[in-house]
Amino acid sequence: MSDLRVGIIGVGIMGAGHARYLTEHVDGAVVTALFDLDGPRMDSLAKELSAKSGASINQHASVEALVSDANVDAVIICSPDPLHPEHLTLAISAGKHTLCEKPLAPKSADAKKVAELANASGLNITLGFMRRFDPSYIELKKEIQSGKYGKVLHLRCISRNVSSPTATTAMLLTNVAVHEVDIARWLLGEEFVSMSTVAMKRTKFANDQLQDPLTVLAHTESGVLMTVDIAANSTYGYEVRMEALMENGSLEIDNLGGLSISYDFNLPPRTHGKLYENWMGRFEQAYINELTAWVGSIKSGVRHPDLATANDGLASSIACEMGVASLK
Ligand SMILES: NC(=O)c1ccc[n+]([C@@H]2O[C@H](COP(=O)([O-])OP(=O)(O)OC[C@H]3O[C@@H](n4cnc5c(N)ncnc54)[C@H](O)[C@@H]3O)[C@@H](O)[C@H]2O)c1
Repeated sequence: MSDLRVGIIGVGIMGAGHARYLTEHVDGAVVTALFDLDGPRMDSLAKELSAKSGASINQHASVEALVSDANVDAVIICSPDPLHPEHLTLAISAGKHTLCEKPLAPKSADAKKVAELANASGLNITLGFMRRFDPSYIELKKEIQSGKYGKVLHLRCISRNVSSPTATTAMLLTNVAVHEVDIARWLLGEEFVSMSTVAMKRTKFANDQLQDPLTVLAHTESGVLMTVDIAANSTYGYEVRMEALMENGSLEIDNLGGLSISYDFNLPPRTHGKLYENWMGRFEQAYINELTAWVGSIKSGVRHPDLATANDGLASSIACEMGVASLK
């Protein structure tokens, strides 16, 4: 079967990352089109990709032009969060399978509208919740489901970015905590029923719009508490950690992707080493696995069960909106 021809909207960190992963690590797909408002950035990536793949790459002047390009079978959306509903609506209207980066939309009303379009389209519409494809979260889910440790009581999460000059406090929920919401829903098979926030002493590195750090508290239907300690300007390194406190054990994903299980009075060895600068290093394998599953699903017509759907995007937008409402 011929290669899936992919067009990418927004070629900043994520768009360029997906383009490189597709070109270098995913069989059966080729990048054939790009659109970004930043022309020189688009041009430099187009030259880099076509030197690697040999494909010619159309550089478009609008989202409309990219999604109606006859050399594009599928689209990846990596534009800024508030543009996702509009860009996804255009891609669906043009009949293109789409991987849309998270969130589906910062506001749940927008997420609902676009999820309805996605559900009715018959297309493969996938949300970029790649932690579902990270080996450590897959292992954690297997251990939780083994029954050996009893029930999950508390998910204690840490999410720290090195620097976030343009972040707002609401974005710490809709842009950052949204990852924890999705992975918790995937691990537990439950929805969140509440979300609120608690402020910490502000770092001097936060911009005026930002309460940084911030703790998010959320409960699921069965009463599991998830706390997410978010720091948007940690300055010292990128960290994503999660501990599942179980009835008789503690299962912890460390910041380098190891899973340590404390059980029966045994403390496991901890990984140590150098922290990543951002998500691209820590989650590289997850992005590659996610893209491989998405391309394979489109080509085979059989959807990989772990790919996040538009309904998953909607559920996480609804949960994060409860957190945003609690800020007022
Ligand atoms: N899944 C993940 O782990 C993950 C990680 C980081 C970011 N993201 C998401 O990916 C998206 C992009 O994030 P990023 O870090 O790459 O941001 P970025 O700022 O590096 O890149 C965004 C790009 O979009 C372009 N752009 C802006 N307006 C546009 C428009 N109207 N049409 C086309 N392009 C436009 C910008 O010029 C820029 O090149 C965001 O929605 C973000 O939440 C996901």
